[in-house]
Amino acid sequence: MTPPLDPSSPSTPPLLEIANLSVAFSQGRHLPIRDLSLALKAGEVAGLVGESGSGKSLTAFSLMGLLPHGAKIRGGKISFEGLNLLALDPQKRRSLCGSAMGMIFQEPLSALNPVITIGEQVAEIFRYKAGKTRQEAKELSLSLLSQVGLPNPKAAFKSYPHRFSGGMRQRVVIAMALALNPALVVADEPTTALDPTIALQIINLLRDLTAARNSGVLFITHNLRILEGFARKVFVMYAGLILEETERGLKSPVHPYTQGLVRALPPNPSERSGRALIPIPGGAPGPSDDLPGCPFAPRCPEREERCALSLPPLKTLREGLKVRCFRRETC
Ligand SMILES: Nc1ncnc2c1ncn2[C@@H]1O[C@H](COP(=O)(O)OP(=O)(O)O)[C@@H](O)[C@H]1O
Ligand code: SF4
Ligand SMILES: [Mg+2]
Repeated sequence: MTPPLDPSSPSTPPLLEIANLSVAFSQGRHLPIRDLSLALKAGEVAGLVGESGSGKSLTAFSLMGLLPHGAKIRGGKISFEGLNLLALDPQKRRSLCGSAMGMIFQEPLSALNPVITIGEQVAEIFRYKAGKTRQEAKELSLSLLSQVGLPNPKAAFKSYPHRFSGGMRQRVVIAMALALNPALVVADEPTTALDPTIALQIINLLRDLTAARNSGVLFITHNLRILEGFARKVFVMYAGLILEETERGLKSPVHPYTQGLVRALPPNPSERSGRALIPIPGGAPGPSDDLPGCPFAPRCPEREERCALSLPPLKTLREGLKVRCFRRETC
């Protein structure tokens, strides 16, 4: 058997590579995603963070081929396992979703059919995507429901989604996304609807199951705390742009926006500093705000005159660190 590739090795080719992606809605000039580049190796976990409306879900939908009506890819390239997804036959692309690429949505109810039992929904994946017999599919489903921590898989198999709590439903959705051992898992705010204790259990489950499968994970969240101990590679998104890309987690943020996000975090229960929580003033720009310069300028404590005039480039400051800010051009 070939050993899994080491994601930390520079020679490991990317599993997923998004290059200079731009997305637009047909009704306007505004680009909710601008020139976004992001790469992920097999077995690597990356976080995509940013406030609501920054373009995180549209990024996920672009790569899964699930963009909402009216949204169009205006430029760029998305390659997955060497395949150019944007040039792929639509049927082939659809068949990748749910097999080599699994997606976990924010609200598990939207991913589950309320009138079909959980067992049938999971078994269907094995039957129709992996060609298993009814009996094989049932056995594989029961084993998977047990792996995701459902206390009574046989009873769960026969139940309908409404009988389950939000946390249990999210476990079922994780089971469905991981059923065929996808090379890539995209999780879009999978714990937002859950209380913090259950959210932590779900994160740990996802981390363990994807590590066991050597799946690459793109974990999308507005909550930086969730990424601690999970993703060292983090892309920080704002107004459709990547402002910071780091391979060292968010312990030492560099961009003024990332620094603001970290200062706005409530202290960790293990922290004894009693430090004050400092929110970022103002709000993120909306589609009608036509800002020619740095999109963070209206809220930035370090802005200068030039910041509002032109967009700073995303610069490599050192290996594993890229930042888009005029005042962080050296480190
Ligand atoms: N269906 C849609 N029609 C028009 N604008 C949309 C639609 N979906 C998202 N947008 C806009 O695109 C931007 C990014 O949205 P989204 O990717 O959902 O943000 P996030 O997931 O980071 O909260 C937002 O400004 C949002 O208003
Ligand atoms: S470019 Fe200017 S406004 Fe933007 S983050 Fe840097 S200092 Fe702040
Ligand atoms: Mg979203």
